[in-house]
Amino acid sequence: MPRLIIDTDPGVDDAFALCLAARSPEVELLAVTTVFGNVSLESTTRNALRLMALCGREDVPVAAGAARPLVHPQAAEGKAAHGEDGLSGGADLLPARTRGLEPVGAVELMARVLRASPTPVTIVPIGPLTNIALLLATHPELAPRIERLVIMGGGLAGGNATSAAEFNIWSDPEAARRVLVEESVPTVLVPMDLTYRCRVDADWLDRLAATGPLGATLTALTGSYRAHYSALMNFDGMVIHDAVAVAEAISPGILKTERLPVRVETAFGPARGATLADRRLTQYNDTTEARTIDIATDTELDGLREFILRGLS
Ligand code: BDR
Ligand code: CA
Repeated sequence: MPRLIIDTDPGVDDAFALCLAARSPEVELLAVTTVFGNVSLESTTRNALRLMALCGREDVPVAAGAARPLVHPQAAEGKAAHGEDGLSGGADLLPARTRGLEPVGAVELMARVLRASPTPVTIVPIGPLTNIALLLATHPELAPRIERLVIMGGGLAGGNATSAAEFNIWSDPEAARRVLVEESVPTVLVPMDLTYRCRVDADWLDRLAATGPLGATLTALTGSYRAHYSALMNFDGMVIHDAVAVAEAISPGILKTERLPVRVETAFGPARGATLADRRLTQYNDTTEARTIDIATDTELDGLREFILRGLS
């Protein structure tokens, strides 16, 4: 049974992802750590605590991590999509958690969990990669305790934060470069090219709302997020990016992957935060400043949507 740590910046799609992991009988959720990103660290942490209370998982420790990127100031938050509170204005619909935040930070909690686990742990970063870069920099001896990283981030054919960069990578490109390129932990990158294809429509959301209190509450958190995607894609529904990565962590192989060399652009300019995966024939691959990792490029779309719906029901 996979043992997971989720590193997150809730975020509407993070809320779906977190609840999917928290409610899955097929994984052991060992810890939740938070990071700045869609909204401030204070808000992402409050949201994570409350989402775990919603799922009845007060047993899982939650710790707060980085409030800003490693080197440069944060370019912008994701409030246009996720709302001022990160949950489309619905954060107060969630129950307050009675168990508080861990007295240690995210990096220390992850380190403790990795040390204590009898088997290697899968870490699922679904926000900026700052906490993960710090973990690997401060506890390099724990890298072998990580079974794999299943990361939501990057775009092979452009981005959403800028024309070149996907939001999670763009939020801390230096951290992303450390984790994706310079470290050597086995990694599956779940880029937005695939997560957009996994988008869910109004019918799927209606079915989720009808499954019970959890589904009803989650759909009540989607207002501004859904409006953002409807405007963006002229589509009545939304993209549940982070839940796609969590599905892979719960059910390894549900996403089809390709091994490709990837680079992260950190220079200031129009391509800052871009993930450059070289899909040319191997003999042309430019492996300078690149690492070959697994990149999720396909899945059985309806099967994946049903898997997520079942998990949240
Ligand atoms: C990623 O950016 C955030 O807004 C979402 O939560 C997701 O992690 C998608 O680009
Ligand atoms: Ca996220």
